[in-house]
Amino acid sequence: MGKITISSLNRMKAAGEKIAVITSYDASFTRQIERAGMDVILVGDSLGMVVQGHESTLPVTVDEMVYHTANVMRGSDRTMVIADMPFMSHATAEQALHTAGRLMKEGGAHMVKIEGGAPQLDTVRHLTARAVPVCGHLGLMPQSIHQLGAYKVQGRGEHAAERILKDAVGLQHAGAQMLVLECVPAVLAAEITKALDIPVIGIGAGVDVDGQVLVLYDMLGITSDGTPSFVRDFLADTGTINGALEAYVKAVKNQEFPAQEHTFS
Ligand code: KIV
Repeated sequence: MGKITISSLNRMKAAGEKIAVITSYDASFTRQIERAGMDVILVGDSLGMVVQGHESTLPVTVDEMVYHTANVMRGSDRTMVIADMPFMSHATAEQALHTAGRLMKEGGAHMVKIEGGAPQLDTVRHLTARAVPVCGHLGLMPQSIHQLGAYKVQGRGEHAAERILKDAVGLQHAGAQMLVLECVPAVLAAEITKALDIPVIGIGAGVDVDGQVLVLYDMLGITSDGTPSFVRDFLADTGTINGALEAYVKAVKNQEFPAQEHTFS
């Protein structure tokens, strides 16, 4: 199998082949993830919660993201790797460029992910005009947890849904080449996926998107403070880590995951 690039993902979207994405934070899991046939790895700032034990993703630093991205890159050969821009590392376009430069040059990431819609459009334009590939992140944005008050579904109701759709189109126009949609009603995610040319990856966003992403520790059922309702425990289903990863890839490709019980209306 050849290396996965953004061109491969665009071809998959055009062909209707679902894209399997998972988070990883180290080299050993990354090797297992690659063997299972995953398309994309996200070095998520979720590591602040599942690896470091923080209550939110906010304390994660750029140095830590660079460290974990470099660990993942040492275990990876063909998978495309996206690294998260942590909280307050992209407050201005110049700061975002500096952060993205570190994640790509020191960490080795192929793309960076930024949470946010309209307020981030100038930053996305600034990065993409300077050869930094960007993945947007809309819907539930964990870096905004203290504004939101709780991790809950976003985009319910006409105005909220319209705003997310507008932000998604805006991100694509600003040059974003992928989009993550987290915890939105399945109908809205399907509408956004249809409206955009770029691959849309869902988490708690239903099955009618171009691919799925899960937090590795959630789908292995080892997250200590409870697993979100949109997650399936693939380790409980299969009994081995290899088996769980392979079953996840297969279930995403066959559109067996997410099922109705993992979906918001
Ligand atoms: O940080 C992360 O792992 C993420 C996923 C939940 C999409 O952003």
